[in-house]
Amino acid sequence: MKCLLGVSSSLLFAAVLAACSDGAVTSSNAQDSVYDRVFPNPTMPQPTLDDFNGDFAKFMANAKVLKPEIERRQLSLLEMRYDLSNRPSTSCKMSRGKPAQAGIRVKLPPGVTWQQLASMTPAAIKSADLFPAGFFPLPHVNHQEGGMVFPASTIADLKQQTGRDLQRFDLDFDIPEHFLAEFPAAMFLSTRKDLGDVSRGQLITTENFYVLFKDILNPKQLDGMRLLLTPFAQAQFNLTTDRRSERPSLGVSCFDCHINGSTNGAFHLVGDIRPQAMRNRIDTPALRGTNIQQIFGSQRGLESVEDFTEFEQRAAYFDGDPEAATRKGVNTLDRATQVHAMAEMIRIIDFPPSNLDVFGKLDRHHASNAELRGESLFFGKAKCASCHDGAGFTDNSMHDLQAERFFNHRMVNGQQTKDDGPIKTFSLRGIKDTPPYLHDGRLLTLEDTVEFFNLILGLRLSTAEKEDLVSYLCAL
Ligand code: HEC
Ligand code: HEC
Repeated sequence: MKCLLGVSSSLLFAAVLAACSDGAVTSSNAQDSVYDRVFPNPTMPQPTLDDFNGDFAKFMANAKVLKPEIERRQLSLLEMRYDLSNRPSTSCKMSRGKPAQAGIRVKLPPGVTWQQLASMTPAAIKSADLFPAGFFPLPHVNHQEGGMVFPASTIADLKQQTGRDLQRFDLDFDIPEHFLAEFPAAMFLSTRKDLGDVSRGQLITTENFYVLFKDILNPKQLDGMRLLLTPFAQAQFNLTTDRRSERPSLGVSCFDCHINGSTNGAFHLVGDIRPQAMRNRIDTPALRGTNIQQIFGSQRGLESVEDFTEFEQRAAYFDGDPEAATRKGVNTLDRATQVHAMAEMIRIIDFPPSNLDVFGKLDRHHASNAELRGESLFFGKAKCASCHDGAGFTDNSMHDLQAERFFNHRMVNGQQTKDDGPIKTFSLRGIKDTPPYLHDGRLLTLEDTVEFFNLILGLRLSTAEKEDLVSYLCAL
C-alpha cells in the first residue's frame, strides 16, 4: 500500500495517518514490523502551519489528532528494543539516592545469547541481521518533526515554580521516568566542595536562584547563572504561531535541559545534518567537569564552553536555520559579557564526589572487591582506559566506533540510520547520575553500555567480568 501525501485539508493528515497505520509493512526485517506503519514514506513532510493557511487553531487541532498514533509508534519501537520494566538496582545509587535501573535492557535477537553474539565476527552478525535492535541509533519521538522534548517531571516543576509550560501539543517525552537521571539533580561547585549539594534538593529556577546562591557566588557568576536560567525564544517555544506549545511561550532556558547543571534527559535533533531523516537524536549531557574538558558537543568538537554557549542559542535553538531564528525572535548573546559570564558559571560546576584518590584510582580502603576487579579490567583487558583516561575519564578526543560494521542501514520510525562517524569520548565521572547513555540516549543502563562495548570492541568478557565493570562504573 502506498500512502503519499496529496492536497492539504485540515483533516487530511489524520486521514492519511489512519489509512497508513494498519499493516503497511515495507520490508522483512524485525525492526520493520513497527517502523513506517504510521509514515511509510519517511520523507513525507510534516504538516506545517502553512498547510492550514496560517490558522494556528486548526494546525494544533490536527496535531492533537495525530499525537496518539505517533506516541504508539514510538512506544512499540521502545518495547521491541528494550525491557522497560522498573527494576531498581539495590547497589548502584545516584548522588541524591535514586537507584539506577539494573540489568541489561537491550533485548537479544531470538535464538542467541550475549556470549554467542560476542563470539561472532561483525560481518557474521551483519549478514545474519543479529545486531540487537537496542544498539541501533534511537530516533526522535517524531523524527520527521523533531525539536526539543522535555520529560514530564521537569515540565511539572517548572510550571509550578514559574508558570512557564514546556508541554508540546504534538508529542510527549518517550523514555519512562525510572530510566532518567534523578530529578532534580544534585549540583556541586568546584569552588565550594565543602557545601556538598548546593541545590538543596530544589530545581534551580529564576524563582529561587538568588536566595540559593547570593552568598556563595560572586556577582559575575550570579549573572551567568541568571542568564542560564532565563528563557529565550527557540524553534518550538516562542511567541509566534509557528510553535508547539498551546500558549505563546517565552522560550526555554539552558537549565531547562541541563537542569541544575546536570541533565534531565531532554532531547532534540542535531542541527547540522540534512536531510531530516538522517539527523541524529541528541540526549542532553551534564555540564559537570567542563573545566577539565577540551571539546564540546558529541559531534561538533567545539573548542570552548563559550563557543558552545553561543552556538546553542544562535544555531541549535533554531535547528540551524538563521531565517527561522530571526522570525521567531532569536536572542543573540553578547560574547564579551553575557557568554563570558555564563561560561564562567558553567566551568565551576563539578563532578559529583567519588571514591577516587589523587591518582584517579579507587581508594582501596573504601572500595569493594568487585569495584577493584572492575578497575583492573577497565585499565587492562577491557581497554576502556585507552579512550576514557585522565582525571575526567576522557581523552578529550573523538572516536569512530564503527557500529555500522554490525548492521545494514535501514529506516527506523522515520530515521535513516547512517554511519555515526567520530563522536566525543564522553567523561565517565559521575556516569551513574546521567542515564540514558550514548549521544542519542539509545542505552538505558550501565549494563547495556558494557554489553555494547563488549561487542563493539570485540572484548569477549565473561559474565562475571561484565558485572565487575558495572560495579566500577557506578563508583566513578
Ligand atoms: C534541548 C535542551 C537543551 C537546551 C535548552 C540547552 N542545551 Fe546544551 N546541550 C543539549 C544537548 C542535546 C547537547 C549535546 C549536543 C551534541 O551532542 O552535539 C548539549 C551540549 C551542550 C554543551 C557541551 C557539553 C559537552 O559535554 O560536550 C554545552 C557547554 C552546553 N550544551 C551548554 C548550553 C547552554 C549554555 C545553553 C543555553 C544557552 C544550553 N546548553 C541549552 C541540550 C540542551
Ligand atoms: C575507542 C575509544 C573508546 C573505548 C576503547 C571505550 N569507549 Fe566508551 N565511549 C567512547 C565514545 C566515543 C563514546 C561516545 C559514544 C556515543 O555517544 O555514541 C563513549 C561512551 C561511553 C559511555 C556513555 C557515556 C555517556 O555519557 O553517555 C560509557 C558508559 C562508556 N563509554 C563506557 C566504556 C567502557 C566501560 C569501556 C570499556 C569496556 C569503553 N567505554 C571503551 C569511546 C570509547
